[in-house]
Amino acid sequence: MEGSSDFNLEGKVAVVTGSSKGIGAAIAEGLARNGSRVVISSRKQENVDQLAAELKAKGLEVWPVACHVGDAGQLQHLVEHTVEKFGRIDTLVNNAAINPYFGPLEGTDPGAFDKTMAINVKAVLQLSALALPHLEKNRGSIINISSVEGLKPTFGLGIYSVSKAALIMLSQNMAKEWGPKGIRVNTICPGLVKTKFSAGLWQNESILNMYEKDTALGRMALPEEMTGLAVFLASDAASYITGGVFTADGGYCL
Ligand SMILES: NC(=O)c1ccc[n+]([C@@H]2O[C@H](COP(=O)([O-])OP(=O)(O)OC[C@H]3O[C@@H](n4cnc5c(N)ncnc54)[C@H](OP(=O)(O)O)[C@@H]3O)[C@@H](O)[C@H]2O)c1
Repeated sequence: MEGSSDFNLEGKVAVVTGSSKGIGAAIAEGLARNGSRVVISSRKQENVDQLAAELKAKGLEVWPVACHVGDAGQLQHLVEHTVEKFGRIDTLVNNAAINPYFGPLEGTDPGAFDKTMAINVKAVLQLSALALPHLEKNRGSIINISSVEGLKPTFGLGIYSVSKAALIMLSQNMAKEWGPKGIRVNTICPGLVKTKFSAGLWQNESILNMYEKDTALGRMALPEEMTGLAVFLASDAASYITGGVFTADGGYCL
C-alpha cells in the first residue's frame, strides 16, 4: 500500500540474480525471512538447488531456477518460470556481476571489456525489461547492486568501476522512465564485502589494510550486512523512494 510504513514482504515475489552465494544469497534469505517468496538464481543448477534446499529447511519459501544472465534465452526462462511458479513478480534484484580483469586500464583486453559491460550493464537492462510488465501490474521495484567502485575508483578495477558507474546511471534512467508506471528503481553500492568475488582484495593484506584505514568503521562487511537496505527498498515502507543511490560501505566513501 502506498505511503505505508510496512516492512513486511508477505504476498510479494522476488527474483534475485547471482543468488547462490555471497551478497545475492544473503539478500535472497533476507527477503524470504521478511515474508517474500524468492527465486534463487545463478548459472549452475547444483548451486541454486543447494541454497534453495538449505533455505527451505529453514522454513523459507524459495524456488531454484538456473540462469546465466548473459544468455537472453535464459533471462526469458527465468521470468516465465517465476510467473508460472508464483504467479507474479514484485521485486527484481539485479545482483550478478563479473570482474574478469584486474590491472592498469591500458592493459584491458577488449574481450574482457565487452564481457564486463554485457553482464554488469546490458543484462540488467534486458532482464528488467522482461520483468517490466509483471512489475507494472504490482507497482513493483527493482534493486540494482552496483558498488562503491561506481562512485570512487580504485586502481586496477578500472573497467569494473566503469560498468558499475554505468549501472547507477541505468538505474536512474529506469527510475525516471518507469516511475510513471508505478515502478521504483534503486541502487545499492556495497563497500568491500567478504565474498569469493572480492577474495583477491581482502586476502591481500596490504589492500585490506588500506581499505580498513580508509573506512570509518575500520572493517570490511559480511554479506548479510547488505540485506537491510534491500529488504527496506523492496518493502512498502520505501513507497516514495526511487532513483536513490545508497551506499552500504562502513563510511568508505566519506
Ligand atoms: N564482494 C564485494 O566486495 C562487492 C563489493 C561491491 C559490490 N559487489 C557486487 O555485489 C554483487 C555480488 O557479488 P558477490 O561478492 O556476492 O559475489 P560472489 O560471492 O562471487 O557470488 C556471485 C554469485 O553470482 C553468480 N554468478 C556469477 N556469474 C553469473 C552470471 N553470469 N549469471 C548469473 N549468475 C552469476 C554465482 O553463482 P554461479 O557460479 O552458480 O553462477 C554466485 O551466486 C556483484 O554485483 C558485485 O559487483 C560486491
